[in-house]
Amino acid sequence: MSTRVRVSQKSLRFTESVIREMTRLANQHNAINLSQGFPDFPAPEAIKAEAARAVMADVNQYAITWGAKRLRDALVAKQQHFTGLSFDPEREVAVCCGSTECMASVMLALVDPGDEVIVFEPYYENYGPDAILSGAVPRFVRLNAPDWSYDPAVLEAAFNDKTRLIVVNTPNNPTGKVFTRAEMEHIAALCRKWDVICVTDEIYEHILYDGAEHVSMAALDGMRERTVTVSGLSKTWSVTGWRIGWCLAPPDLTNAIRKVHDFLTVGAPAPLQEAAAVALAMPDAYYTELAAKYRERREFLVPILEQAGFHPIAPKGAYYVMTDLSDFGFPDDVTFSRWLIREIGVAGVPGSSFYADPAAGSQRLRFHFARKRETLEAAAERLQSLRSRLPARPESLTRG
Ligand SMILES: Cc1ncc(COP(=O)(O)O)c(C=O)c1O
Repeated sequence: MSTRVRVSQKSLRFTESVIREMTRLANQHNAINLSQGFPDFPAPEAIKAEAARAVMADVNQYAITWGAKRLRDALVAKQQHFTGLSFDPEREVAVCCGSTECMASVMLALVDPGDEVIVFEPYYENYGPDAILSGAVPRFVRLNAPDWSYDPAVLEAAFNDKTRLIVVNTPNNPTGKVFTRAEMEHIAALCRKWDVICVTDEIYEHILYDGAEHVSMAALDGMRERTVTVSGLSKTWSVTGWRIGWCLAPPDLTNAIRKVHDFLTVGAPAPLQEAAAVALAMPDAYYTELAAKYRERREFLVPILEQAGFHPIAPKGAYYVMTDLSDFGFPDDVTFSRWLIREIGVAGVPGSSFYADPAAGSQRLRFHFARKRETLEAAAERLQSLRSRLPARPESLTRG
């Protein structure tokens, strides 16, 4: 019997987030969760105090849909300080419920069905559903291990008359790649040539290692007028649950993004926007210390993964490590990661969830290290027993 009570075709084209599934499984088995990328340490006192003050001062009602004035002012001041670019807080800023909502609003506001969107893969898994929801046709350009560089000819071939925008996430999740200035210049030249918008996800902009340089696309020649810079509070201030993100873009683009954002969520949490303004005014030392602490965590975890047989690729930025599972002999990453949670008590994210073709990531697992030292030490202890506990015939295991 036919019925009109059914879900949309769009919603059938993507599945539940694998990352959140791994978190649930980890909780069920009491595993140490190095899958979903959120910190287990506290946020800075100053911003917590401001959030509490704002709640007690009854900052309880809708903020201006595109962001509280105080936050927009703080944001443009910070952007000017770090990139030298000036933005108009009245016309070029949209504050959203996390950079995730910004990215969805950006796609819905700037892309028409049938337009092509270029995405580097492996990619942060939200970009796939964002493209589907906006009706875009995603074109994937592979980042190749071990340095995660891309083939310039492949990128050049991905641009055409239908290309509306390209998404660049640097520092990158899940690879830890930091796009070099030369790569950013190359992408910029292609955007100018094909008259394409560049959307940069810069949420890990302050988490850099080994002297890596963060290049903001908007600061390159001729790019300010065609770049949407997306970032947020989640990672730099360890408050992923506060849901505050933002984007900076020229007025015509911002206007469209603000309209979509307004009808999706009206606005981001008002008291937390007050706290975000305090966060953005923190001194440079805050960012230096943040990066130094992440460097220590990276330096602890990467050798542990190496000893356990994961062949980790040390990241240049962000807080993820991609690994290679081929030594373990499992048929695929999902089978391995479920086994790792159940038998060893450590959770990572199956690499296939970062690729359009799951086979491309089927021998990879991503760990993150936004964890207290004691959490990482406990994970290290568990991972030490991995080799001795490998099943006799891992290749015969099945998912489930
Ligand atoms: C590349 C990237 N962009 C965006 C987000 C989500 O950020 P938000 O909490 O601001 O929505 C994440 C979270 O893992 C991420 O890795």
